Amino acid sequence: MSSRNIWTHKGTFLLAAVGSAVGLGNLWRFPYLVGENGGGAFILVYAVTIAIVGIPILIAETLLGRSSRKSPILGMQHLTESHGTSRGWRTIGWMGAAAAFLILSFYSVIAGWAIHYSMQMFSGALAGADASEISASFDTLLASPSLLILYHTLFIAASGLIVGMGVHKGIEGGLRFLMPALFLILLVVLGYAVMVGDAGAALSFLFTFNLADLSLEGWLEAMGQSFFTLSLGMGAIMAYGAYMSDEASLTRTAISIALVDTLIALMAGVAIFALVFGSGLEAGQGPGLMFVTLPLAFAELPGGSVLGGVFFILVIGAALTSAISLVEPVAAWLVERFGFSRPLAVLMMIVGCWFLGLLTVFSFNVWSQGTITHELFGRSPFDVLEFITNILMPLGGLLIALFAGWALTREQVMAQMATNATWFAVWQFLVRFVAPTAVAFVFLRTIPQIEG
Ligand code: PHE
Ligand code: NA
Repeated sequence: MSSRNIWTHKGTFLLAAVGSAVGLGNLWRFPYLVGENGGGAFILVYAVTIAIVGIPILIAETLLGRSSRKSPILGMQHLTESHGTSRGWRTIGWMGAAAAFLILSFYSVIAGWAIHYSMQMFSGALAGADASEISASFDTLLASPSLLILYHTLFIAASGLIVGMGVHKGIEGGLRFLMPALFLILLVVLGYAVMVGDAGAALSFLFTFNLADLSLEGWLEAMGQSFFTLSLGMGAIMAYGAYMSDEASLTRTAISIALVDTLIALMAGVAIFALVFGSGLEAGQGPGLMFVTLPLAFAELPGGSVLGGVFFILVIGAALTSAISLVEPVAAWLVERFGFSRPLAVLMMIVGCWFLGLLTVFSFNVWSQGTITHELFGRSPFDVLEFITNILMPLGGLLIALFAGWALTREQVMAQMATNATWFAVWQFLVRFVAPTAVAFVFLRTIPQIEG
């Protein structure tokens, strides 16, 4: 995004932000975290965080982007200078870049699994397979570092190419088709899962809220996931906000993004858990959950090979539109901090993430045990990356909330929000007090627990 231009259509910010939000976080991460953390209690914490912390911060982050009309780092510099506030707020820029870098490294490896499954589907390799055969084939995939590296390389190169070629036109057109198509196929999968699977068990697992079920770390994961799924707290939304048209309503846009994102996650959750409980698979099996349940559905569905192939292609597409928004904050930071050219910055980011991605690749095979991270934290390098993400994103969001809530004046905010006094007061109360308290509460509860 080199030159300053507004998205072609008024609704394109919404589309691009939905493209960033909807991705592996909804289809892959949400269901597996729910499964690992006991179901309903996790969803409750997740949903409450989205409503009272996520949406207000989404508004704040878009607002910062639109009022500065610059990339996150320069934008924060501009805003702090023109308002005479502390330079410390610029932490938002580089911390976001760090988070984006870590996330893309594992995101790309997981998206690679979808490449594998789209090919498996189209080739009919899994047609008619039962649950144990599908699980076995997933284990075979994970056991092969070279295969995982191949797919990781393909995916990260594709994201780099798209960003390098300049994003706007391509994404706009692509998203208009991709999102509805993904939604439709998900609807078919959901319908099928409800028919053949155990929808009752899935619903009671997902919507029985017993907070005592949730471990301390589950709280952190639920909050981390609500930031992750909305792409919050790391500059991606700020970068897109810089291109948002002045007429679009911040509040309405933010609420729409959160609703679409949550709807897709819940659809994926119900479909996956109906299949899990209907076929005796294990809910808490971790990152493989979506990759063993959905292929199972497609394996038995008439015409499932083609449908499954198309579904995984759409997953790759949704992951790409999220990955693109992860490249942006880092590339912008490299350009602005070190004066690199844009293509060079993107290349450095991609190559760096590729290497870091090897941590994730090896976490599923050669480093699944006995690494230094196991010794220090009792978890694999991939788990540690996810854990850091769960900290960095809420922390970035906290800073954004504090900056928008306390450092900006009412006039500056109202110039962007163009809302009535009541809504402004509600929003301000949420970003000033509720969001910081929620983040602090979860941090204070969980972090000592984990180290101790
Ligand atoms: N929101 C994306 C998803 O749910 C992931 C993401 C996080 C994208 C942060 C950009 C920034 O898949
Ligand atoms: Na998401």
